[in-house]
Amino acid sequence: MNAPHDTRRTGAPLAHVHRSLPHDSAEKHVTGTAVYIDDMVEPQGLLHVVPGWARQAVRGRILSMDLDAVRAAPEVVAVLTAADVPGLNDCSPSIGGDPVLAGGEILFYGQVAFAVVARTRDAARRAARLARIEVEAATPVVTVEQALAADVTVLPDYQFRRGAPEARLATAQRRLEGSFRIGGQEHFYLEGQIAMAIPGEDRSMLLHTSTQHPTEVQHVVAKVLGLPDALVTAEVRRMGGGFGGKESQANQWACLAALAARITGRPCKIRLDRDDDMIMTGKRHDFRVDWSVGHDDSGRIEAVDMTLLARCGYSADLSLGVVDRSMFHSDSSYFYPDAVIRSRRLRTDTCSNTAFRGFGGPQGMLAAERMLDAIAITLGLDPLEVRKRNFYTAERNLTPYGMPVEEWQTLHRVVEELEERTDYWQRRHEVRAFNARSHVLKKGLALTPVKFGISFTLKHLNQAGALVHLYTDGSVHLNHGGTEMGQGLYQKVAQVVADELGVTLDKVAITATTTAKVPNTGPTAASSGTDLNAMAARNAARTIRERLVALAAERYACPPETVVFRNNRVLAGDTEVSLAELARAAHQARIHLSDAGFYASPKITWDRDSASGRPFLYFAYGAAASEVTIDTMTGEMVVDRVDVLHDVGRSLNPAIDIGQIEGGFVQGMGWLTTEELVWDDQGRLRTHAPSTYKIPTASDIPAHFDVRLYDSPGNPEETIYRSKAVGEPPVMLANSVFSAITDAIASLRPGHVPPLDAPATPEAILKAVRAMKSGGAA
Ligand code: MTE
Ligand code: MOS
Repeated sequence: MNAPHDTRRTGAPLAHVHRSLPHDSAEKHVTGTAVYIDDMVEPQGLLHVVPGWARQAVRGRILSMDLDAVRAAPEVVAVLTAADVPGLNDCSPSIGGDPVLAGGEILFYGQVAFAVVARTRDAARRAARLARIEVEAATPVVTVEQALAADVTVLPDYQFRRGAPEARLATAQRRLEGSFRIGGQEHFYLEGQIAMAIPGEDRSMLLHTSTQHPTEVQHVVAKVLGLPDALVTAEVRRMGGGFGGKESQANQWACLAALAARITGRPCKIRLDRDDDMIMTGKRHDFRVDWSVGHDDSGRIEAVDMTLLARCGYSADLSLGVVDRSMFHSDSSYFYPDAVIRSRRLRTDTCSNTAFRGFGGPQGMLAAERMLDAIAITLGLDPLEVRKRNFYTAERNLTPYGMPVEEWQTLHRVVEELEERTDYWQRRHEVRAFNARSHVLKKGLALTPVKFGISFTLKHLNQAGALVHLYTDGSVHLNHGGTEMGQGLYQKVAQVVADELGVTLDKVAITATTTAKVPNTGPTAASSGTDLNAMAARNAARTIRERLVALAAERYACPPETVVFRNNRVLAGDTEVSLAELARAAHQARIHLSDAGFYASPKITWDRDSASGRPFLYFAYGAAASEVTIDTMTGEMVVDRVDVLHDVGRSLNPAIDIGQIEGGFVQGMGWLTTEELVWDDQGRLRTHAPSTYKIPTASDIPAHFDVRLYDSPGNPEETIYRSKAVGEPPVMLANSVFSAITDAIASLRPGHVPPLDAPATPEAILKAVRAMKSGGAA
């Protein structure tokens, strides 16, 4: 059932695309033979770097730094401070303000002040503890309220506005308002931050780095060392998870390894301890959202005034784009006739918050769902009914930032199909009946939508490059600018290239991403890895094939349209040869068998200054129905049942896509239920190990977890084989769990909105239950 665009010029049916083939490294992952940076054979003379920090200091000017004992410790080769940086002491991905090593002051608890280089990692760790750093006492700004009071931001405020929301709020039939807190999230990639630097000739530096953005590592290392970009190469075969936490946060460790390698002349490796990793690196932004909504008696929204207050930490990092994406998703799937969406990027003396799967989108969407739940609860209507009344439609289809929701029908279809499949209304009835007879245990049910914008909102990032070689034995070398972090990008691109050249997958050598083969790349982020890199790689493979078609047509005297590439063979008229044979003939005829492909996404015209244009090529849709049970005596909660329907357009690989949806959902569920970050009033992170920070485990998977792909006619946009991006959108399917918990608590006192913040930990649930019972609810 291939659509016309799939009947490619190879003339052969697709052998790999649209198939559930395993991840290229699946076997290596489970047998422990996949090579991560710490598994690489260590070069002779390798030294180990460990970052050191002021364990007593929360923030303030450095009065003195006594490193004598560190230097004198056994096996120590060098101790690095800001004074050792030959170039720029900054590894920021954006506007600056991220010192590699602390300058005159400590900006947050855990900031790297110095680094120890020693012959063993253990010796470096022990030595790092011997530093004596004196810091002037100062009171850190830790909370949103403290940052608001001090009026400190990392970037200017920004807003979108349509119509006259204030006036319409004043005249609306009903008006509701609230303030809602959303917690952050630690990435908890299984492979922590790591980099290995190998110095070469002429001051050159090779970095093995666990990063989603090799080009940026190349650039920051070059700046720190004072080198031209061309002398630095950044390479990554795979990450053991990134989740946004290695989009910018890998920079500092690569810089420290490179600096150590420069100063000692030896290969140097840095691998963070889990505690250091959690304390030092940025996380998902936590938010306070203040909202006000005007609506009618049927629950239909007339106007929204929302303020997103993001806790950014000490520097800008990626907070511009992250909080913009929260704003772009503060409508979830609902039409706000008049709206103002305001944002503040607050500066706190804590680690610098960063990208995390969804890139701010989940926070914006959760705020919208809270608003919709509040409307439904206060009107005594079913939340799904109120949601549907506010969905984008043919006439009501403009987002607050002016982009039309062209595929509004997909949103309706996905939700209606799931509503039917899960017997939503029958189960609503059963949940009500259960709650009427059960005093301690209460059930909740929610079905929530997902609409996630695909493209980088920074326009220039929407481009990619690839490099494909065909060798004369018919094997293919594949390289592109995307990085592999477990999401299956390499496999999907290999499937596309294999079908383009009509070869079997074993002929395609998947190779490590490196700035030396494909330059000037963007990060693998915004879920766009496949959209961009598979297109670039296909373009390269197609160019090579077209050269071969021309040769075959001439050599075997047949029309070019009849040349077919299939199963490592080429059919040209009456002749059939192996691809290797044709490749050798091409080589003899001096035809180039290599190509650098390129792709730039069309249609994106967003202009931030005027807040106008189109930020996204398309939206990915989905819906999830979750049922939970809470214990009103203890606050414990169990997710009993989850059903998901998700739109990936025409899937390139259904098995990998379903894996992404399951993983994304569970990661979102962790964010909203068990993962809680606690900073004390001194700005010290108290939850810096799995003993105090609870990520979901196998036993947290709902007993009934049914994930299906929406039977899509294909992405209306001309993406690779009409597929849609899948990496991040599923995180927001977990909003249904939060809404279901809200629903369960709301059953205690009809008409009242539970004062529940995210994450809905047992403590938070118990607190909200108590407030409902004592009449303290909103
Ligand atoms: N899946 C796995 N297994 N590991 C990861 O680190 N990162 C997510 C998502 N899925 C991640 C993942 C994030 S934050 C993004 S942006 C996308 O994958 C990036 O890859 P893609 O653009 O190729 O989907
Ligand atoms: Mo993903 S947060 O865009 O790396």
